[in-house]
Amino acid sequence: MPNFIPLISLDRQQRSLSRQLKRAVGQVLDSGSFILGAQGRAFEKEFAKLLGLPRVLGVDSGTSALELALKACGVGPGDEVIVPTFTFIATATAVSALGATPVFADIDWDTMTLSAEDARKRMTRRTKAIIPVHLFGQPADVDGLRRLKAGWLIEDCAQSHLAKYKGRPVGALGDASCFSFYPTKNLGAAGDAGAVAAADAGLLSALEELRNCGRKLGQAYRHARVGSNCRLDEIQAAVLRVKLKRLRRWTERRRALAAFYDEGLSGLPVTRPPLGLRGTQPVFHLYVLRTPRRDALLAHLKSLGIASGVYYPLCLHQQPAYSGLKSRRPFPNAERASREALALPLYPELRLSEAARVVAAVRAFFAA
Ligand SMILES: Cc1ncc(COP(=O)(O)O)c(C=O)c1O
Repeated sequence: MPNFIPLISLDRQQRSLSRQLKRAVGQVLDSGSFILGAQGRAFEKEFAKLLGLPRVLGVDSGTSALELALKACGVGPGDEVIVPTFTFIATATAVSALGATPVFADIDWDTMTLSAEDARKRMTRRTKAIIPVHLFGQPADVDGLRRLKAGWLIEDCAQSHLAKYKGRPVGALGDASCFSFYPTKNLGAAGDAGAVAAADAGLLSALEELRNCGRKLGQAYRHARVGSNCRLDEIQAAVLRVKLKRLRRWTERRRALAAFYDEGLSGLPVTRPPLGLRGTQPVFHLYVLRTPRRDALLAHLKSLGIASGVYYPLCLHQQPAYSGLKSRRPFPNAERASREALALPLYPELRLSEAARVVAAVRAFFAA
């Protein structure tokens, strides 16, 4: 049996950077500065430069970034926030955590991101914000969603570092934007980490106070707001700085592998993810195809030593956690995606010979 091909491989990345990462972490330990120090400030600057934003703030997770962004925009009890029903649950739980109500909307079939047309039907007088998710690294239809005038537009960029929409990086398009550096993300820390950004100076200073126990900037024990502790620590910042230098190269490699899959799978009865629809440059956090024979394909790949993954088996309106919400059906595209979506192995360290094995295995499945 040939070698097993994992769906995501963090150990390959770790092996390639082991020396640099150990040195960076060692320097933090020796410095004795662990919270809101030089590493965090440098990372914030470097990441902001990459996005073309005046400032980005490091936080302790993507979930915190979403909660902080909603809080800074004044979202609270009685408000509704429109979110796609096909995403990771944190997009919605951040809304719930503030006492507001997530209103689920369907996705666009091509990009699997929030449908502006469906979101429009779900707007009410209480709609305070909308959260497009650039899912699997595919930019959402930000212009279409902006035209709805559904209140604050908060981008969930947890899976889309460096993706572009009409020439501009995602994260620089909304009123606020939220990133996750969960270890498996395109830019991943060695633990939990995230970032939140905004272009408006007032929103930025609210975010900066809120992430640090509501402290008035520059004052240790004067608290301007009821905030929480969502700070990025120095060890994570140092790890992220090492990896940030590789992010452009890794992103190009992801795109090249996606193009390889696209060509290899052409002509098969599967829906392939778009390589660049309507002026977008996706970054393929995951390469997710769709087929009604998804479960059989997954089993076939497994029998050949190839891992694949179901993202996501349930829409959010189908989750037990949201059974009390009585979401207004239908969600045809999202429900179909949850039945048909299958992610193939794709990460910068995936060898071309392995990608070729994946293509051959998928082709053999449909030839049988
Ligand atoms: C779309 C999306 N939003 C939000 C999050 C939450 O990020 P984190 O796990 O860093 O809290 C994730 C990551 O898991 C995600 O994929």
